Amino acid sequence: MSEPCAIVVLISGNGSNLQALIDHSSEGGYSIAAVLSNKADAYGLQRARQAGIPTRVVDHREFKDRESFDERLVQEIDAFAPSLVVLAGFMRILSSAFVQHYSGKILNIHPSLLPAYRGTQTHERVLEAGEKEHGVSVHFVTEELDGGPVVLQSVVPVQADDDRDSLAARVFVQEHRIYPKAVSWFASGRLKMQDQAAFFDGTRLGVHGLRENSA
Ligand code: GAR
Repeated sequence: MSEPCAIVVLISGNGSNLQALIDHSSEGGYSIAAVLSNKADAYGLQRARQAGIPTRVVDHREFKDRESFDERLVQEIDAFAPSLVVLAGFMRILSSAFVQHYSGKILNIHPSLLPAYRGTQTHERVLEAGEKEHGVSVHFVTEELDGGPVVLQSVVPVQADDDRDSLAARVFVQEHRIYPKAVSWFASGRLKMQDQAAFFDGTRLGVHGLRENSA
């Protein structure tokens, strides 16, 4: 058996995606070397400690600008020499220098069917627009916010009686299912980013990446 792929996970809050990544790490062929948060009270830090994973807090409010905050983040991350940086509800916009430093080695999960509904409050906006379909995307991170190549999506049908919470709950089930899967694909070398595109088993993926239906 080869060494599992070392990843560092960045969080800002509850860390339910982190928990899914923890729960699937051994079967997924990756190991979580550390969890970093920009918030000291993020519940995800407790999840990490419970799993015996080293944690670090880098509070963005202690830095004069985004660049200096990101420089510290890079130092903290590189101390663990990861092969992949995994954003799991990390609510900070990353500088170009950070993204370039880890080019092709950062994944993010976003609660919409990208390229639709970039940004925040996706569930509310999807309901307001009367969409029939919502979902979640895992994508490589590039300098364009929520704009990097999509790897994997899961479609969640919107139900007539959905409110924000019922819709979010069904999207979360899919988040927790597809994120460990995408990370394990990266760990095994099946998933790569090249020339700003995502490749799976050597095939260039289209705008929606690989798409699955949750229903
Ligand atoms: C998740 O829904 C994730 O997709 C979203 O934040 C939530 C974090 O939940 N990320 C973004 O909106 C990034 N733009 P968690 O802390 O329970 O994993």
